[in-house]
Amino acid sequence: MPAGPPSTRPVDVWLARIREPCDPAVLGAARGRLEMWEEERLGRLRRTEDQIRFAAAHVLVRVLLSTLRPVRATGWRLAETPEGKPFVSSPGTDPALHFSLSHTAGLVGCAAAASVPVGFDVEALERRLRVEGLARHALTPTEIATRPGDGPPSARWFLRHWTLKEALLKAVGLGLRVSLRSVEVSPGAGGPATIHHLPEAFGDPGDWRAHTLEPLDTHVAAVAARAGTPLDVRWRVLEVDEVLEAFV
Ligand SMILES: CC(C)(COP(=O)(O)OP(=O)(O)OC[C@H]1O[C@@H](n2cnc3c(N)ncnc32)[C@H](O)[C@@H]1OP(=O)(O)O)[C@@H](O)C(=O)NCCC(=O)NCCS
Repeated sequence: MPAGPPSTRPVDVWLARIREPCDPAVLGAARGRLEMWEEERLGRLRRTEDQIRFAAAHVLVRVLLSTLRPVRATGWRLAETPEGKPFVSSPGTDPALHFSLSHTAGLVGCAAAASVPVGFDVEALERRLRVEGLARHALTPTEIATRPGDGPPSARWFLRHWTLKEALLKAVGLGLRVSLRSVEVSPGAGGPATIHHLPEAFGDPGDWRAHTLEPLDTHVAAVAARAGTPLDVRWRVLEVDEVLEAFV
């Protein structure tokens, strides 16, 4: 009997802690082992911490992908769309692997899934966010009305919305070309989120699933995928040194 559709869609989310100011070993491990376009992007980043976050994320995703397919971590070919969404361009990786990257203070992360577009975002809670102004820019009136209490919204409450929206926009490959206010969500407090509205670029809104993740006290993250079924989110937190050791 042919197998039916899977009841859940596995999505792997890996986070790597980086020390800041960071160990330049990350740059040493990445140099000469990424694609030309990645080396060029790396070369254009001015701040050392941005270079290290970029290099760490692009190494991390290769190490994660190698746990899903029998390809060496240094053997992955990656490319990016004209809109900036990176993708696997290696031949012979059916079903296709999709992934998404994010970097922020102290942490880089990526999500990967087979066959379905995926988006990932992580933000540090320590950042001094002007939450009220950002909320007016990024959230819908309905979302703002759900903030708990009468005081200013907390950074955690805001970032749950923000990361969820960015994860969705990255999954569809458009990033911030699509207005954050055209997406309406209820993130909950870790776990499956409710998606109320998505713009036309997403196709059937019923196909989309998203989760907020708070594996560390210091950061808020979210993952989204056009999965059609609930997500089975499997996350792990590593130290960047472990990632570099696996980059062979
Ligand atoms: C993608 C975007 C949402 C990133 O947000 P951010 O919180 O600043 O940064 P993050 O670290 O979370 O994510 C950056 C990663 O998103 C990915 N990304 C970039 N453009 C993307 C797109 N269109 N779709 C999906 N992913 C994208 C890249 O992997 C990037 O990491 P890299 O530079 O190491 O490859 C935002 O930069 C964007 O929309 N860029 C494209 C449009 C643009 O340039 N707009 C100008 C501002 S309106």
